[in-house]
Amino acid sequence: MHARNGSSTPATLRHVLRLSDLEDGAWRRIVESAVLFRRAKRAGKSLNGLASGQVGAGKALGMVFFNPSLRTRTSMERAAQQLGATATTLTPGSGTWDLAWEDGAVMNGTEAEHVRDAIGVLSRYFDALGVRVFASGTDYEQDASDTLIRTVADAATVPVVNLESAWAHPCQAAADAAVLHDRFDGDVAGKKFVLSWTHHPKALPMAVPNSALRMAARCGMDVTIARPDTHALDASVVDTARKTASRNGGEVTQTSNLDAAVDGADVVYAKSWGGPLVYTDPEQEGAARTAATDWRITADRMARTRDGAFMHCLPVRRNVVVDDAVMDGRHALHLDQAEYRLHAQRALLEHVWG
Ligand code: CP
Repeated sequence: MHARNGSSTPATLRHVLRLSDLEDGAWRRIVESAVLFRRAKRAGKSLNGLASGQVGAGKALGMVFFNPSLRTRTSMERAAQQLGATATTLTPGSGTWDLAWEDGAVMNGTEAEHVRDAIGVLSRYFDALGVRVFASGTDYEQDASDTLIRTVADAATVPVVNLESAWAHPCQAAADAAVLHDRFDGDVAGKKFVLSWTHHPKALPMAVPNSALRMAARCGMDVTIARPDTHALDASVVDTARKTASRNGGEVTQTSNLDAAVDGADVVYAKSWGGPLVYTDPEQEGAARTAATDWRITADRMARTRDGAFMHCLPVRRNVVVDDAVMDGRHALHLDQAEYRLHAQRALLEHVWG
């Protein structure tokens, strides 16, 4: 196989663009390794003895963030360092050329470089690339096909790790799965996982809820998606999750009654998303979202759970998405999720480079 830039491309690059790129054995290894790394760190033990050697020694990770980040950027840089690798981060728009994305683009405007050339160049410098490129929010077909991250992967001659694309955030999902395995001591299947839409002043993308849903389904959890009827997730994403859950002994149901959904929950995972309506009727989506301020995770709602955990990928808007009482209470796992980003991505880089 030959890449467009003329260099030879291995037939099996270990791209991690979505959860399904990790077959069951790799998925289990990443989740279990992340839990081991975290427990070793808490016990004050060296992590080096647990890793499969310093698999990053002499290697270099290049990251391109087309959108802002706090956790993903810093945790990936630290994960690479822990494995003995270097990490370089680029933020297009502040010091690099504006990039064109369209195939066949006539580049006589502001874009000085095509993404295919930029990624081809970076592939010559680095042993893996991490890329964050969010949804357009205007082109549903493009976003649902994850066209931009796939364009990157197609141009790359080294493995590409998705650091959040239009439709998926596999690094977040791997960390979240490890948090759940840690909390329930591996006994995750069959636990009630509520993925709750929440009010938010902005229409947010669907990468995190898509991946949280896929993750919980893959763990064999009993998943309830609670959302207003105006904010259903993509039907094919839900359908795929339903089949995955069923294969793993779980199920996926949907409801527009948040109070009933959280009854007896083991986990409440809060996230806002714009949903398909953003693409077809943004005015109606905005009106529905604005009217739904009661879709907020409160202490009263957490009291209906089975001593359940609260999860959020962060960043979160306090007292809009979730009340202070929940964030600062004993049910909150959001800081564990953030910490687990480091452990899970370390394990993921071991998979990519192993
Ligand atoms: N959860 C998450 O991806 O955080 P950042 O956007 O800060 O990277």
